[in-house]
Amino acid sequence: MKKYMIQTYGCQMNEHDSEKISWILDGMGYEIANNREESDLIIFNTCAVRKSAEERVLGQLGELKELKRRKPNLILSVCGCMMQREEIREVVLKKHKHVDIIFGTNNIHKLPQLISRHLETGNIIVDINEENREIEENIDANRKYSYKAFVNIMYGCNNFCTYCIVPYTRGRERSREPEKILEEVKLLAENGCKEITLLGQNVNSYGKTLERDFSFADLLKEVNKIDGIERIRFMTSHPKDISDDLINCFSKLDKLCDHLHLPVQSGSNKILKAMNRKYSREDYISKIEKVRKANPDIAITTDIIVGFPGETEEDFQETINLVKEVKYDSAFTFLYSIREGTKAATMENQVPEEVKHERFQRLLDTLYEIGLEKNKKYLGQTVQVLVEEVSKNDENVLNGRTTSGKLVHFPGSKELIGKIANVKIDTVKTFTMEGTLV
Ligand code: SAH
Ligand code: SF4
Ligand code: F3S
Repeated sequence: MKKYMIQTYGCQMNEHDSEKISWILDGMGYEIANNREESDLIIFNTCAVRKSAEERVLGQLGELKELKRRKPNLILSVCGCMMQREEIREVVLKKHKHVDIIFGTNNIHKLPQLISRHLETGNIIVDINEENREIEENIDANRKYSYKAFVNIMYGCNNFCTYCIVPYTRGRERSREPEKILEEVKLLAENGCKEITLLGQNVNSYGKTLERDFSFADLLKEVNKIDGIERIRFMTSHPKDISDDLINCFSKLDKLCDHLHLPVQSGSNKILKAMNRKYSREDYISKIEKVRKANPDIAITTDIIVGFPGETEEDFQETINLVKEVKYDSAFTFLYSIREGTKAATMENQVPEEVKHERFQRLLDTLYEIGLEKNKKYLGQTVQVLVEEVSKNDENVLNGRTTSGKLVHFPGSKELIGKIANVKIDTVKTFTMEGTLV
């Protein structure tokens, strides 16, 4: 049997794409390898969102030169968002001549064909599709867990935030037909899946490319009806499009988790405008108030960029103040990274690296303090967790997640994995909580 490895970078979209690639390879008779050494095929599924992610991939490719020299039959392939960018493909083709197959985010289904073409000709195969972005419905996924699953509901993004490369790598927004999504969720539920995460770059604009009137809230209501599904999550929503109908779902739909990830990016109106986010700090805060009214227990998380061009100390202070006002449960924080081809890349007043780093640290300190404070509310409470896996550090300890997305460690036996358990919280930390089964 031929063996393969997939190294995945980036967001859940990419993670799920890798699950699809893995399903395709299974169908070709490949099996998963334990390490690079025994692999016949290594695939890098790449992310272009920040320079650091790109550099890591190029570094890893460089390291594989030696293995490829020793194992000339090893097929080395690179796919994902980086490969949708012509200038990066050029770099790979010029500097990493040991790469055999390059394919884009729209051509995953063609992988068997690309591998045979490479094997027949010995040539480097490049297959990128920037134009035709039809939704490919005939690929299943080899999911990592049986009890939780990602389901794509839409692809691409039309927002063109001035810092972001995603609209260039993933193309224009298009929604999957609701029937296809619901069919997939039903099948997953029949096979024992309890938690669904609906995926899209901006799920709030789901349905805009459909011929009928069908919104994201309508989709949530339908998924909520599916027997067997106990938890529904989604990623990611854009604050400008979050509708009252969607906000009401947080009080009405029993399976919708007590968690909203709502990326704010900055607390300064000047910076939000320069980012082309199309909402103000005040709009954002009023949306959060409405969400909390609909569900007072909801955990709110966000994404924040530090050091966008033109960000002054005052602008940064507005971000810190917003963090304190909203009281986020946690946040993904990023140092602004120049992406060639985006509007912000050519803006003047780029913030010096050391200033970015210093602000970044102050932001983390604020977030950690608030995060810990928020977790303290759970002390002594009994929470329901979906048991996910055995802890890496201790085989008698299990990891589970609350509906608010908090990670809980507790002693228990692995028969509980995939089930929902009641756990009383005894200790809380910034990122995790510990408890006992009740
Ligand atoms: N579609 C999602 C986010 C996709 S990218 C959304 O709009 O919420 C994930 C996060 O990466 C973004 O929310 C942003 O915070 C960060 N990001 C994107 N481009 C970036 C850049 N050039 N530099 C730093 N962070 C960036
Ligand atoms: Fe990027 Fe903005 Fe689209 Fe999110 S909404 S993917 S940040 S352009
Ligand atoms: Fe990265 Fe592409 Fe996701 S650029 S963040 S892997 S959509």
